[in-house]
Amino acid sequence: MPISPFKLERFYALHEFKSRIMLSSSDCESLSMSELLDMATSESKAMWENLRLGYTETQGSPALRSEIVRYYQSINPEHVMVAAPEELIFIAMQNLLKAGDHVITLSPAYQSLYEIAISIGCDVTFWKLVPGEKGWNVDIDQLEKLIKPETRLLVLNIPNNPTGYLPTREEFDHIVEIAGKHGIMVFSDEMYRLMEHNPADRLPAMCDVYEKGISLAGLSKTMALPGLRIGWLASRDLSFIDDCLAYKDYTTICNGAPSEVLGLIALQNGAAIVERNMGIIKTNLQIAADVFSRHPDRLRWIKPSGGSIAFPQWKGSLPVDELCRQLIEKFSTMLVPGEMFDYPESHFRLGLGRKNFKEGMEYFETLLQTL
Ligand SMILES: Cc1ncc(COP(=O)(O)O)c(C=O)c1O
Repeated sequence: MPISPFKLERFYALHEFKSRIMLSSSDCESLSMSELLDMATSESKAMWENLRLGYTETQGSPALRSEIVRYYQSINPEHVMVAAPEELIFIAMQNLLKAGDHVITLSPAYQSLYEIAISIGCDVTFWKLVPGEKGWNVDIDQLEKLIKPETRLLVLNIPNNPTGYLPTREEFDHIVEIAGKHGIMVFSDEMYRLMEHNPADRLPAMCDVYEKGISLAGLSKTMALPGLRIGWLASRDLSFIDDCLAYKDYTTICNGAPSEVLGLIALQNGAAIVERNMGIIKTNLQIAADVFSRHPDRLRWIKPSGGSIAFPQWKGSLPVDELCRQLIEKFSTMLVPGEMFDYPESHFRLGLGRKNFKEGMEYFETLLQTL
């Protein structure tokens, strides 16, 4: 079955490299090459300087995979496969699903987390997040009611893009318990993990707590290095990893050697990079809260609990896609409407990870004054 266009990525393709300010982007202010190399140990700097630009191991370099497993409890280097995050979603879904399977996906979500399943011919049910007084929420008990005999996979993304939703530890355990009771596999997109606004809210990686759980993570958001195109799947199921590796021979075969070494340096300095990102996010959360408190008639702030994004509500009379269009055209400031996440109500995504967020919000407020 042909796959539908990825709405969000097509929208970015149109505006990202023409707009001056990215007020919706989900990645944090990218690190520069010199910032990253300044963090390198003498050993990793030597790896960088002596690097040969040949093909690399399909699974990812052993050195990089050894560094990745330091972020998990029960995962060894052979349980990890490295590739671009988006590529890994594609490969994992091809291996996990077949036509007729039933898939449950937390929604709203990054489109590939359900669109690839639809293109395979699966029946996809959306498990819907709803905005509440304290933030986004999902009815955990409803999950059990959505399960059918053909349910093969539950797809989670926590912290969630676009809402910043993060379940409590009790809710998370309950989800794992329901999946276990029904023998359902869980694909857990953890691209925003480690960026919990309160570190006490951090949840375990799915692959560490559930034997049928697969965790996806990467350097694009948490490590502020989307240009390296490095992510990984972690799963205790070695035959799943083998199947995914066989598929990769038809996509990219292997990762770029420079990206692998730079990724290794980033992971060796992960705590410092996350702290730097969280500093930017916390400043921007305060700026957003101030702006929203000045316009309660038209804006509703819905507090995110993790990640570098928020998905507030637009209550003005102008359609939200028109609001976003005007901000792009008049102020070269990119804002993404909820429609890009197939979300039917009037919301937009805010990206909290960029250093020029304040400037973007000033343009946003200026636009509000003209409406
Ligand atoms: C939830 C989620 N998963 C996966 C990806 C894909 O990451 P990448 O663009 O680095 O391939 C993204 C990117 O925005 C995302 O938000």
